[in-house]
Amino acid sequence: MRVPVVAANWKMHKTAAESAAFIEAIRATSEDVGDREIVIAPAFPALQAAVEAARGTRIQISAQDLHWEARGAYTGEVSADMLTAIGCSHVIIGHSERREYFGETDGTVHLKILAALEAGLTPIVCVGETLDQREAGNTGVVLREQFTAGMGALSPEQFGKLVLAYEPIWAIGTGRTATPDIADEAHSALRSMAAARFGDSAAEALRILYGGSVKPGNFAGLLEREGIDGGLVGGASLDPESYAALLCA
Ligand code: PGA
Repeated sequence: MRVPVVAANWKMHKTAAESAAFIEAIRATSEDVGDREIVIAPAFPALQAAVEAARGTRIQISAQDLHWEARGAYTGEVSADMLTAIGCSHVIIGHSERREYFGETDGTVHLKILAALEAGLTPIVCVGETLDQREAGNTGVVLREQFTAGMGALSPEQFGKLVLAYEPIWAIGTGRTATPDIADEAHSALRSMAAARFGDSAAEALRILYGGSVKPGNFAGLLEREGIDGGLVGGASLDPESYAALLCA
């Protein structure tokens, strides 16, 4: 049984104080929900406050990015060890906004996965196609390329530690969610790639989250699908009531 993950990606929102107040606001709900893994990814300056606010709860704190080197002259960057040192358990890697605005490639995604795993962080690795790629019928090819170049060289043991997030770029922040059918099809394609490269049991254990305009109103329909193991949620995770509703979906 794969435990579903409800991950909040706060992007460039919320100060440290706002992050702590949010966690306080959802604490009671987080204790009531059954088989859900709860992960919240605040901005870097809010991580420590979020870890402290989440202490003693089931809420786990994720960074939104990291650098692959352990230390050095990389102005503005943050290493995996710096994240574990303050109590982060997860890190989002290869989000499409990082790929689009900050030049991330499948190659850097691969290096970041290795750095995260080495430090004991759980990588939440994002893949997904643009609207043009989907309309040209290239979704499968794009996902395969991202999967192979980002994750193909991992050992089965390393692969077993990551969480995948399918985030079609045309659905992110647009209000245009993939239908459960569309998401399911992409999730199956990704699971087949995992089976072909890492074996059936690795594919069976892999959690694949869906991301892209997830809302309390559409989340249950997505979660009903066998192959959809949770969500990576941006906009609808910013309000405590809305996030609490997602946790209970
Ligand atoms: P959205 O963002 O839920 O606001 O579409 C999802 C994401 O980018 O992870």
